[in-house]
Amino acid sequence: MVAIEENKPLQQLHTFHLPVSARWYVEYYSVQDIKDLLKTDLLRQNPFLQIGGGSNLLFMSDYEGVILHSGIKYIDVVTDSSDYVLVKAGSGVVWDDFVGYLVKMGFGGAENLSFIPGEVGASAVQNIGAYGVEVKDIISHVETIEVATGREKIFTCRECRYGYRDSIFKKELKGKYIVTAVVYKLQKNPDYHLDYGNLREAIGDRDINLQTIRKAVIEIRKAKLPDPDEYGNAGSFFMNPVIPYSQYNLLKEKYPEMPCYVIDDHYVKIPAAWLIDKAGWKGKTIGGAAVHEKQCLVLINKDSATAGDVVALARNIVDSVKDLYGISIAPEVNYI
Ligand code: EPU
Repeated sequence: MVAIEENKPLQQLHTFHLPVSARWYVEYYSVQDIKDLLKTDLLRQNPFLQIGGGSNLLFMSDYEGVILHSGIKYIDVVTDSSDYVLVKAGSGVVWDDFVGYLVKMGFGGAENLSFIPGEVGASAVQNIGAYGVEVKDIISHVETIEVATGREKIFTCRECRYGYRDSIFKKELKGKYIVTAVVYKLQKNPDYHLDYGNLREAIGDRDINLQTIRKAVIEIRKAKLPDPDEYGNAGSFFMNPVIPYSQYNLLKEKYPEMPCYVIDDHYVKIPAAWLIDKAGWKGKTIGGAAVHEKQCLVLINKDSATAGDVVALARNIVDSVKDLYGISIAPEVNYI
């Protein structure tokens, strides 16, 4: 069974909460549903876009096609050994519900990724990450349907070619496969990752275990990131740029306090939040769109913003960062 709606308002279906709609909105509940849908004229004759929780999208106008959303929701332990488990989750499972389940079961690996908005399917496309962990670190394989043929195909983690907020599903295979489930490998005796940012400090003198790490991550995220129900937003709007060490060393002469995360001997990642902040953008607005006061990496829908307001604000920020530091920053959100 699938649910098809026409002229569907999208305001509540993406976290920027912009006033846009879709010509059609289709929710499906099984692998067979999506196979059947791919054979219909609706999907053969119209552009379509698979969305998850809509937490990483910027709709620039109404969508004149079909928005697809997965309602495939299940969580199964498929392998249980003495030191690890493989857990399979349907693409429509809410990501943080899944992390909550893993932490409760004592399965380690996802706890640093607590409270990231979105759904399981998108986690594998976007390679979501936080506090020194990326979801690729725990993905075993990804189950998909090929759009052109309706055939099932499994991608190993390696075949997904994960990079920073990047995968094959955003590049060569963009729009060609629909994720239906993801299998994650979790540890029963996990190594904790506490060295990124202020995570260890946030745990304070609490015992270190999956629950306390999850709690601390949620506390940090709540303190820094705006609640989309209050101010629409898509989390980090920009990616942190990666630049050569040589360029960083030159910039450092002018900006001695510029932070960086070392990637390897040749490259460093610079926090875009810092670049945007020091360029004077904190709290600045264009129309109804604003730079979040507590985290400059996040653009918010402060006051009935239009898509044009957000796009203009983003463009001005990119230009000013380029002029000031010679660094190109790119959006992390997907412009639709
Ligand atoms: N900073 C400023 N001004 C600000 C905010 C931060 O100068 O307004 C400075 C901070 O002092 C710090 C640096 O910028 O030195 C980095 O800030 P923060 O740790 O808050 O952000 P980040 O590490 O760059 C990344 C992810 C987040 C993720 C956090 C935690 C990206 C684009 N963002 O931010 O991901 O939660 O690390 O791991 O990689 C998301 O993708 O939506 C997201 C929120």
